[in-house]
Amino acid sequence: MKDFLTIGELEPEEIESILERSLKLHQSPQPLLSGKNIGFVFEKPSLRTKIGTEVAINRLGGDVVHIESDLLFANGKAVPFTSRESLQDAMMNVSQWCDALFARVYSHTSLEKMSQYGTIPVINALCNLHHPMQALADLLTIQQKFPGKDDLTITFVGDANNVAFSLTEIGLKMGYQMKFSGPENYSWSQDNLSYFSLLAVEHGGSFTATSDPFQAVKGSDVIYTDTFISMGEEHLYEDKIMHFEPYQVNEKLFSATGKNHTGFMHCLPAHRGIEVTDAVIDHPESWIYQQAKNRMIVSLGVFAAIFTRNGTHHP
Ligand code: CP
Ligand code: NVA
Repeated sequence: MKDFLTIGELEPEEIESILERSLKLHQSPQPLLSGKNIGFVFEKPSLRTKIGTEVAINRLGGDVVHIESDLLFANGKAVPFTSRESLQDAMMNVSQWCDALFARVYSHTSLEKMSQYGTIPVINALCNLHHPMQALADLLTIQQKFPGKDDLTITFVGDANNVAFSLTEIGLKMGYQMKFSGPENYSWSQDNLSYFSLLAVEHGGSFTATSDPFQAVKGSDVIYTDTFISMGEEHLYEDKIMHFEPYQVNEKLFSATGKNHTGFMHCLPAHRGIEVTDAVIDHPESWIYQQAKNRMIVSLGVFAAIFTRNGTHHP
């Protein structure tokens, strides 16, 4: 693959193959990225994505070059006249030195332009619409917790955002029963709903959305949530806090699944006492640190896939 921008680009077999390869490389790392320089450009803060992926690249023998985001973007937009130079010029320059670019951006369009203007692979480290690296780590976590079980019900409670989108895509591609619950005015667009229904039909799973979180979590193997206010949405704080209050994952909601093995997942960073209570995030069935560890592990498989084609290492 050249770029990796969304889960939607991957067939289920490719997803499985990345996870398999990730685990193999975690057991015995190979110097697949020896001599490679991976540019990191982050318009927003990051702990897990930045550090986890940098460690993975180091383990594959590659090097990371940190590029200040304002050399490519200004105020979240790739605009020629307010940034230092055009994104086109910047990308063509970066393409002369770096072998790939790992980018966290405000707008998905920026990733598409970076891919179009440069000649090197672009990998999405989170944008407004997608968080594919997170979704791969989450799927690995789910598979490790339920080995060999395909009939899984995963419920995302909270904001219809980037993390929820990529999780829903990957779950549907695996044929899982994916459920969603959030306030109606912050829920999925009609286009998103149609896309999820299509994926469900194509891969034999199901997708349902409801504004009632207690109804949604019934029968769930996993409850997943994310921050109610994503990076860049701070201006929506008052309104969102008010609308999302019934969607906090607390002990009452966590125990309403009717199952005794339900796991709790959160991509982090978490806002304890807001989207999740301490009792749930610190529960023995909270898998948050396994998810975080898997962020590094799946980066091994993603970068291996970027730098090898048909299993062969390419320059
Ligand atoms: N989950 C995640 O992407 O965390 P960071 O924002 O810290 O990278
Ligand atoms: N939805 C969150 C995810 C952070 C990893 C955000 O975009 O800020």
